[in-house]
Amino acid sequence: MRGIKIIGTGMYAPDMILSNDMLSTFLDTNDEWIYSRTGIRERRISVDKPNFYMAAEAAKAAVANSGTDPSEIDLVLAATCSPDYFYPALSCLVQHAVGAVNAAAFDINSACTGFINALDTASRFLEDGDYKNILIVASERLAPHCDYTDRTASILFGDGAGAAVVTKNDKPMWSYLSAKGDYFNALYCKVDQSRSNCQYLAKTDALPVGIIDSEAKTHTLQMNGKAVYKFAVDAMDTAVRKVLERSGLGIDDIDLYIPHQANARIIESAVKSLGLPEEKVYVNLEKRGNTSSACIPTALAELDEMGRIKDGMTICLVGFGAGLTSGAIVFTQ
Ligand code: COA
Repeated sequence: MRGIKIIGTGMYAPDMILSNDMLSTFLDTNDEWIYSRTGIRERRISVDKPNFYMAAEAAKAAVANSGTDPSEIDLVLAATCSPDYFYPALSCLVQHAVGAVNAAAFDINSACTGFINALDTASRFLEDGDYKNILIVASERLAPHCDYTDRTASILFGDGAGAAVVTKNDKPMWSYLSAKGDYFNALYCKVDQSRSNCQYLAKTDALPVGIIDSEAKTHTLQMNGKAVYKFAVDAMDTAVRKVLERSGLGIDDIDLYIPHQANARIIESAVKSLGLPEEKVYVNLEKRGNTSSACIPTALAELDEMGRIKDGMTICLVGFGAGLTSGAIVFTQ
């Protein structure tokens, strides 16, 4: 039987606060519009710290909080869609930073659904029995991906990292994961290959012209807001229904719902369609914005700090993001 127990949490938020009022000094927008459409008032931005710095800080905090010696970590999983390097994997940098010398490490990129997919993966490694302690870190530095002349998308995102150390539990867990690759262009950020000099290869006649995308101009985050909104409302509803169906539990059997923090209206819509008790749904996006895969573990770390993660409670995590991907996990702590 699969089961996970969170034995440590940690988070990192950059110092710089980018408020709606600050955005409105260079964008044709205002606090009232952003807050009423999204529930966001401010977000944190990493001006000078790379993603791996944020990830390492959150990971170190989670390992310390777990009381586990770094040498006892068997696997480091990093979820990110905004790494500093194509390779090595972010998880390898984190493994080094925390001193998890005995751990294997690899990354998972399913954008905002990253932590859900990583936690599901971790549970399967734990079930196997060879892996006892797994460090999961989800970290995003989205500011460099944002086009700050685009008032529709750039207002949503922030930077930050969250982490958790998990171990096997004899209490059950269930998951539901989904991907709709046909919606890949509803939310994407293209790799910038324009500075490559692969065109010289084409001159040899050995390779076709067009091996690289030198014409592409858009290497910032591109989003069809309405399409993503529609998908998200449906995906959250479906993912929660499916995972509850698999678990045999009802809406009221869940003690705490932690949704991906993309937009307060999307969360409200799912709360309404599913009939979730509002007091059980954690929302923190007013001060953080959408930090992609980092949203859920950051929320877990905040709740843990408040003493709201208790042994024996049943928690539902639900997320969605670029891909388009979505998923939900129910576990008893
Ligand atoms: N400030 C002021 N006006 C803005 C604005 C801003 N930041 N962004 C868009 N507008 C304008 C539009 O230009 C449009 O003007 P028009 O009516 O004159 O054409 C108007 O506001 C309505 O735009 P619309 O795109 O219909 O707004 P919306 O209600 O759909 O909200 C989003 C836009 C992006 C907030 C919403 O679609 C959304 O949250 N989508 C999901 C995005 C998401 O969660 N992505 C991450 C997934 S992990």
